Amino acid sequence: MSRSVGIYEPFVDAVALEGQQAEIAKNISASSFPAQLIAECFHIDPSRLSGERVIDTASGASDFVWWLNENGVSAYGVDIGYDDVGSFLERVGLFHDGHILTAPDEFKGVPKSRFTEDFDANPSRYVAGSIVELPEDDGSIDRVTNHSCLTAVNGPMPDFTIASVFEALRVLNRGGIFNIGPLLLDRRKFPSETVVECFEREEAIYSAIDLSHEVGIKTKVAKTNFCGLWNLTVTRTK
Ligand SMILES: C[S@@+](CC[C@H](N)C(=O)[O-])C[C@H]1O[C@@H](n2cnc3c(N)ncnc32)[C@H](O)[C@@H]1O
Repeated sequence: MSRSVGIYEPFVDAVALEGQQAEIAKNISASSFPAQLIAECFHIDPSRLSGERVIDTASGASDFVWWLNENGVSAYGVDIGYDDVGSFLERVGLFHDGHILTAPDEFKGVPKSRFTEDFDANPSRYVAGSIVELPEDDGSIDRVTNHSCLTAVNGPMPDFTIASVFEALRVLNRGGIFNIGPLLLDRRKFPSETVVECFEREEAIYSAIDLSHEVGIKTKVAKTNFCGLWNLTVTRTK
């Protein structure tokens, strides 16, 4: 595998990174969203996806990876929880009529989640690992997605966030897209402590993007249909 080593080393403290990874792994909710909601959050049109190579990072117990493959994409998920999926599913905790949901009342109409059956039927689609070290060559992937991990509330985590953004940009090819969401942006909707933590995470994402200018970055922020939240599309142009 060809991999440019240590692309983020000058900006990330290795010890802090390890601590923040452990912290986020311990505290972040394993609850997961339905594929349709994630696709909508990122404004992904399934009819335009065919043939893409996609990594869904921190993909959790969502059936987004299954959905991508159903829509002609060669996609796999990377999550630290996949090394022990049994206890990981116990942490998810929220099953509702076979759905794995964060907020059951909001998504009662969505189809039954395909995560567990796809995990069993296609184990190679679910890779145990960290966002900060993706098992791919430089410039080999068309799209990286990250839903509800980089922007999830769990303290600022600047080293983890910066390392994750750099790693996604490393594996993307020219024209490749990194979808991140959901973002808050609208401060009025959320209690103030949540907002401060989320904004710190979002600022770290923007710092990483600023530091990555040599790979040519274009960004676009768009509103989603979910709770008035937003998404961020980062395109690598060189
Ligand atoms: C709130 S869940 C989101 C799951 C899915 N993306 C979704 O939106 O439904 C957050 C996920 O991040 C994963 N995670 C936390 N730290 C990680 C890391 N360093 N590398 C990979 N995954 C990580 C957790 O195991 C968990 O599955």
